[in-house]
Amino acid sequence: MNIQTIGVIGCGLMGSGIVEVAAKSGFDVIVGELNQEFLDTGMARIHKSLERAQSKGKLTEKEASAALARMSGTIKSEDFAPADLVIEAVTEDLELKQRIFSRLDQVTQPDVILASNTSSISIAAIAAATNRPDKVLGMHFFNPVPVMALLELVRGSLTSDETLATAQAFGERLGKTTVVAKDSPGFIVNRLLIPYIVDAIGLYEAGLASKEDIDAGVKLGLAHPMGPLTLADLVGLDTTLAVADVLYEEYGEPRFKAPPLLRQMVTAGLLGRKSGRGFYDYRQG
Ligand code: CAA
Repeated sequence: MNIQTIGVIGCGLMGSGIVEVAAKSGFDVIVGELNQEFLDTGMARIHKSLERAQSKGKLTEKEASAALARMSGTIKSEDFAPADLVIEAVTEDLELKQRIFSRLDQVTQPDVILASNTSSISIAAIAAATNRPDKVLGMHFFNPVPVMALLELVRGSLTSDETLATAQAFGERLGKTTVVAKDSPGFIVNRLLIPYIVDAIGLYEAGLASKEDIDAGVKLGLAHPMGPLTLADLVGLDTTLAVADVLYEEYGEPRFKAPPLLRQMVTAGLLGRKSGRGFYDYRQG
């Protein structure tokens, strides 16, 4: 299938990164949000990221303007009609995703692939809201999307070989390396990542080490680019909690159980970088 126009629903942390990478790779991108305010915030994030890429010499002014010209924002689902592929990147809420997929099933051409950037939710459950489960799959990107090389593809029980092959080719055109996982909670990466972050928060909560020492221990002792608490702040504590809850509910194993501290911080609005505070304070930039 020839893909030229893609749709991205949700222009938050992940959606805006997907839009940026797709537009820089030459795709026309329709960007959808719930309302104009969310759309403006998401587009502003993309502008800032393109400016950053320019200031680092990774992109010329001409390339940045061309990428921006390929993006069009909307708050109407019917505007996704011309899309050849749609990627949903909204919050981790099955009902919300099902509503979106059901609507996309109505407004897009029947052969269009509908993908979800979900970190943990069952692709089969999302696909069940459509009449094209063979054309539904998971396309899980990693934060920050412009930097991270991986695209994890998740095959639902009814996803066709053709859909998977098209998604692999699309991932390559974005400059990503694809890996394929079965539709099991957490797929490959989050199934490994969440117990690690949960353990690190538990260690901190128990007062066994300072947050700085936990992060420095992993960063310097294991050569990770950042420690687990800094990483949780980057991913978003709300997203981390939502994924942990799905995994715990599905597997019932204590290693996935969110520590009370994580839940308290999310309730208090301490969501990490995106809200300005998490384990660390980002309000001074
Ligand atoms: N957008 C675009 N580029 C960015 C960026 C962003 N948000 N953040 C950093 N970069 C670029 C910088 O421009 C820089 O590029 P150059 O080397 O070409 O100059 C490069 O990334 C390194 O950045 P910095 O020097 O500013 O900082 P750093 O060396 O500490 O790297 C990092 C920052 C790339 C985020 C790095 O710390 C890292 O890789 N951290 C781990 C990230 C990770 O594990 N992500 C996955 C999270 S899990 C997930 O997303 C899935 C889920 O479902 C939960």
